[in-house]
Amino acid sequence: MSYPYQIKSSEEYRSAYEASVSDPEGFWAGIAAHFSWRRKWDKVLEWNFSDPDVKWFTGGQLNITENCLDRHLAERGDQPAIIWEPNDPGEDYRILTYKELHFKVCQFAQVLKNNGAKKGDRVCIYMPMVPELAIAVLACARIGVIHSVVFGGFSAQSIADRIQDAGCTLVITADGAFRGNKDIPLKSVIDDALVQCPTIRRVIVLTRTRVPVSMIKGRDTWWEDEIRKVETQGNPACPAEVMDAEDMLFILYTSGSTGKPKGVVHTCAGYMVFANYSFVNVFQYQPGDVYFCTADIGWITGHSYIVYGPLSAGATTLLFEGIPTFPDAGRFWDIVDKFKVNILYTAPTAIRSLMGFGLDFVKNKDLSSLKVLGTVGEPINEEAWHWYHEQIGKGRCPIVDTWWQTETGGILISNLAGVTPGKPAHATLPLPGVQPLLVDEKGEELHGNNVSGNLCIKFPWPSIIRTTYGDHDRCRTTYFATYPGLYFTGDGALRDEQGNYRITGRVDDVLNVSGHRIGTAEVENAINMHTGVVESAVVGYPHDIKGQGIYAYVIFNGNKTDEASIRKDITQTVARIIGPIAKPDKIQLVSGLPKTRSGKIMRRILRKIAEGELQNLGDTSTLLDPAVVEEIKGGKL
Ligand code: WT7
Repeated sequence: MSYPYQIKSSEEYRSAYEASVSDPEGFWAGIAAHFSWRRKWDKVLEWNFSDPDVKWFTGGQLNITENCLDRHLAERGDQPAIIWEPNDPGEDYRILTYKELHFKVCQFAQVLKNNGAKKGDRVCIYMPMVPELAIAVLACARIGVIHSVVFGGFSAQSIADRIQDAGCTLVITADGAFRGNKDIPLKSVIDDALVQCPTIRRVIVLTRTRVPVSMIKGRDTWWEDEIRKVETQGNPACPAEVMDAEDMLFILYTSGSTGKPKGVVHTCAGYMVFANYSFVNVFQYQPGDVYFCTADIGWITGHSYIVYGPLSAGATTLLFEGIPTFPDAGRFWDIVDKFKVNILYTAPTAIRSLMGFGLDFVKNKDLSSLKVLGTVGEPINEEAWHWYHEQIGKGRCPIVDTWWQTETGGILISNLAGVTPGKPAHATLPLPGVQPLLVDEKGEELHGNNVSGNLCIKFPWPSIIRTTYGDHDRCRTTYFATYPGLYFTGDGALRDEQGNYRITGRVDDVLNVSGHRIGTAEVENAINMHTGVVESAVVGYPHDIKGQGIYAYVIFNGNKTDEASIRKDITQTVARIIGPIAKPDKIQLVSGLPKTRSGKIMRRILRKIAEGELQNLGDTSTLLDPAVVEEIKGGKL
């Protein structure tokens, strides 16, 4: 497969960028022509940001799995599509060629049909990082079923909320998951969740860890048994459902500044075109390269850059079940060495953590296959950037610092590996088709360079969020109402003298903990579920490895045992309600919170104290009870 739209020089970048701004429709029509369509589009783009209403390639029909699988069969059917490395390095790895992946996707799509799934239904996927997860995702897309993948670190309650919100009818899960030296009982978590989910008619369970599970008669069935049934049906070919360009492809839940996560909706054609275009250009993928993205498919990074982007480009994508520190902190480098990985895409938090383990885990690993390194999820600090560049890339590999969001579907701001210059800690320049701008608090555009403000985008790109599932107005108020006529990212950014963007972090009440988005309100709600908790306030603070840590101030009047067990109880409550990823790092018990006379918590003050900034707390004169600030300062952890 060749990529005629792969940008090869800075000049080509500039001309592509200009074309994408002066004639966006012509530009994207030119890219979209390189995909397989069942019917060509009538209109490239219709949009307004006030409803919002954005439609790309209307009238066009296609199936994303034909673009990810079928169209590669003739030319590269025997090439590895997925390389899978298990959690335990002693277990055999697996390789699925494009032919094999195509076969298995069709087979499992037939399983879904046999179990009553049909176009437009929503299916929840809660699985370990095994090839069957990618197969399940693609099988849904094959028959027009909308997938909602929930990351394996979320609790039963979080799963139930997501299943209810989307009205899912079927769950695909596994008995359990291996993560490092832990076994996670996925099926048992699902069983707890489903007590509250009457819409679920069927649960398909893959065998992975072989922990005992309870199978509910009439509801639960084993993946392997279902496959055998399809085999006895003689493996009927499972034709791809013909989808309209703007039919929903998937829902992915993400946290915002309110307590309830929202279901970000992406649609078929625009998402596919942009995931592919950004993959090919940012990473400069060459046919035959082995590409390794360390994210979990449960996050948008996994959707766009493990599954859809790479597979639509006919790439070889490596899927790793485990964690960076198991069996030791050299695991990523062992994998790079073992499979001669050419492109490695990971998160700053992983780099910082591995950096902390020292160079013993890097030396004696052959990393000479690496050509391109990437980061995503949070700002990368210069120290981690240099370590990655020198110790892993040996000074020869460009690093792409890719800025984007669940809502953007694909990378919007990044250098293009080896094509446009990188700069430590800067995402640098927008991709063609992306028109960012910075605004001040009032929404006035900040022109020129050397400015900082709130990051917005003024024109739609093909994989922009279409709606928040079941609540379109929430999509409008969250992203399109703060600055009318603009998409607001929720991030702050600087633009340097060359026009490079540096993302400084969220400007709303959203935390970024190890590259995972967590709403402060969500954590507060979870803490407040504990019977002894009167009230709580959660803020972020700088954390050496995680980027941000979670600091909770809690008013507690329950049974006064010792503080350590109160903290432990509260932490357990959060793990139960949201999942282990949202556990507070610090819990300070306080007798009151700094509130204004109207009852609003002054988070600014709490944030400063959590950051260790005890002096310049700003104006505290509007506080109802200024004395509480002194108490909180005194008890800072
Ligand atoms: C938020 C989006 C997009 C995949 C992973 C996270 C932060 C993301 C960068 C980067 C600085 C970044 C932003 C953004 N972020 N990439 N390269 N530099 N910050 O997806 O969970 O939707 O979170 O992650 O704050 O808004 P997400």
